[in-house]
Amino acid sequence: MVSGKVIANCAMPYKELIHERIWSKKIVEFKSCEVDLVTETDQQVEKLLISNLKAKFPSHRFIGEESTAAGVKCELTDDPTWIIDPVDGTMNFVHGYPNVCVSVALWVNKVAQIGIIYNPILDLFFSARQGQGAFLNGKPIHVSHENELSKSLIGYEFGTSRDTEKMKVVMGNMNILTPVVHGVRSTGSCAQNMAMVALGGTNANFEFGIHAWDIAAGCLIVTEAGGVVIDPAGGPFDVLSRRYLCACSQDIADQLVKIIKQYYPERD
Ligand code: IPD
Repeated sequence: MVSGKVIANCAMPYKELIHERIWSKKIVEFKSCEVDLVTETDQQVEKLLISNLKAKFPSHRFIGEESTAAGVKCELTDDPTWIIDPVDGTMNFVHGYPNVCVSVALWVNKVAQIGIIYNPILDLFFSARQGQGAFLNGKPIHVSHENELSKSLIGYEFGTSRDTEKMKVVMGNMNILTPVVHGVRSTGSCAQNMAMVALGGTNANFEFGIHAWDIAAGCLIVTEAGGVVIDPAGGPFDVLSRRYLCACSQDIADQLVKIIKQYYPERD
């Protein structure tokens, strides 16, 4: 059994580290392309997080953004697996834009059991446990009750790829959405985008090209807050597919599925 204290300790101890460094000079390296960044803080937080969790749960497995080498496939088995993004919103972190989150999830039998999204700069601690609801700083949260896409605020991102085909789809969807919704918002952190749907701040959010570590916690927080998480083409959500759509209701999800252009990245 994973206690509430372990859940809080998954992310909160890294507050100081991230806080101290967000407005300082960083060592920045490129990953898949020159807008896909990693800093020494991403690497350090991930190492600390994994070693702390390993000490408590030596038999558990780990999938971490920074310890998964580029191009290596993620292996998600039925074993308890912690899926970790130490700094989601690395581009924001590099620029000192305060939408950065530590995202930690525990999956067992390929189902999310615990989800934590912590923005240490804005002090937003989102958490959820399977079947027990979703919370922001300990208080229950719920998705919005909006049912009309035309009255919706949509979380949307340009992502960390400049692949021409993908950019065509991303820009195409921006053109499709802007005239038919209330507005479009980009936080620059996929985890925070999902948390905003859970909180009722936005009504839906989708993205292509994200990785399992970006969405493994958010998918549970959204569903525990009463929302839905599906594949953007309408099928079941697959955490390794690098595609997701989450919404406050199946109605909003269906309306989006009908109009958006699809993109299929290589799986994780
Ligand atoms: C990125 C952020 C960004 C999203 C990208 C992700 P990272 O994660 O979540 O919002 O658009 O697709 O890769 O690299 O900052 O952990």
